[in-house]
Amino acid sequence: MNTNREKPAAPQGGTVIITGGNAGLGFEAAKKIAADSGGWHIVIASRSMQRMEPAVQTLIRETGSRHITAMTLDLASLDSVRRFADRFASAGLPPLRAIICNAGSNFAQETRATDDGVEATFGVNHLGHFLLVRLLLGQLEEGGQVLVVSSDTHDPSAKTGMPAPRYEHPEIMADPAASDRQLAQLSPAQRGSVRYTTSKLCNLYFAYELDRRLRRAGRAVIVTAFNPGMMPGKGSALSRNFPPILRFAWNYVMPALRLFNSAVRSTKQSGGDLAELLLKHLPVEHSGTYWDGPRAIPSSDESYEEPRAKELWNWSSARTGLPAEL
Ligand SMILES: NC(=O)c1ccc[n+]([C@@H]2O[C@H](COP(=O)([O-])OP(=O)(O)OC[C@H]3O[C@@H](n4cnc5c(N)ncnc54)[C@H](OP(=O)(O)O)[C@@H]3O)[C@@H](O)[C@H]2O)c1
Repeated sequence: MNTNREKPAAPQGGTVIITGGNAGLGFEAAKKIAADSGGWHIVIASRSMQRMEPAVQTLIRETGSRHITAMTLDLASLDSVRRFADRFASAGLPPLRAIICNAGSNFAQETRATDDGVEATFGVNHLGHFLLVRLLLGQLEEGGQVLVVSSDTHDPSAKTGMPAPRYEHPEIMADPAASDRQLAQLSPAQRGSVRYTTSKLCNLYFAYELDRRLRRAGRAVIVTAFNPGMMPGKGSALSRNFPPILRFAWNYVMPALRLFNSAVRSTKQSGGDLAELLLKHLPVEHSGTYWDGPRAIPSSDESYEEPRAKELWNWSSARTGLPAEL
């Protein structure tokens, strides 16, 4: 019997990769982790060195930590994800102790495709992260963590104002034309919103299936999923693809909702909660849990449908050229 999972898991420091760590939620989480005394090395990973370098400088200036590196990663390109994993392996950084799958996009105006021809919401929010984590798992230390940023918008009972997700076979979700046909009765904006909430449901299928497979493989890795709540305001650029009127409301009107609704938060508040989830080094028995800010809660009933999680895992493995087994 493999006893790795029974070892207490509370390593200090090591490297944490934060996708999308140069802006929004990821940046605020990076700030709190950099200020922690645990000695973390932070790799922020997103598309543009031009946007990441000033973010790294700000983090160094504001936290006093010098252990912050930027590495380019475009989750809309499977080749870019593979190159990132190779570069990371040879970068000579401290041992990999955590991956925070935070980057995300919401294409509200039109259907877009990744470099690999995959519908872009599904491609960036799910498939790119799937490949990234799979490629890095071999380097992730025992006692390490994978944190997956999902959203309460995956759950219609949370009444977030976003449409319910519509999970289809991954072959349909990933094919821009097939997905358009499936959602033909909706306006382009509604289609974008359904794809977004569906991708956040896929984040949960991925997190829970990853947890089950790591358990079966005897690995002591803690997988958690996180809901930051709605974070309107200029702190989050998630509205960058919204029509101008909605972008205005997001930046200047909706932040006032924080006064009345605890599900509406700032990137600073939720970035702090996300960092805390990493820094509290949950025991491995708590792997596979979903966190609403600082509290563990159940996610939607639909998110626990194991056959779907398995289907998505197997399809994603085949699409990225990996074996399904860990
Ligand atoms: N904002 C909300 O109200 C809200 C609510 C619930 C959940 N969430 C989730 O929270 C996470 C962070 O959202 P946020 O509000 O902080 O968004 P944001 O301000 O738009 O930041 C997104 C980050 O992801 C990066 N990114 C986007 N596309 C990428 C790609 N193809 N490859 C690599 N990096 C990419 C961006 O970097 P560059 O553009 O510089 O490359 C940026 O650093 C997302 O997963 C989102 O779904 C947000």
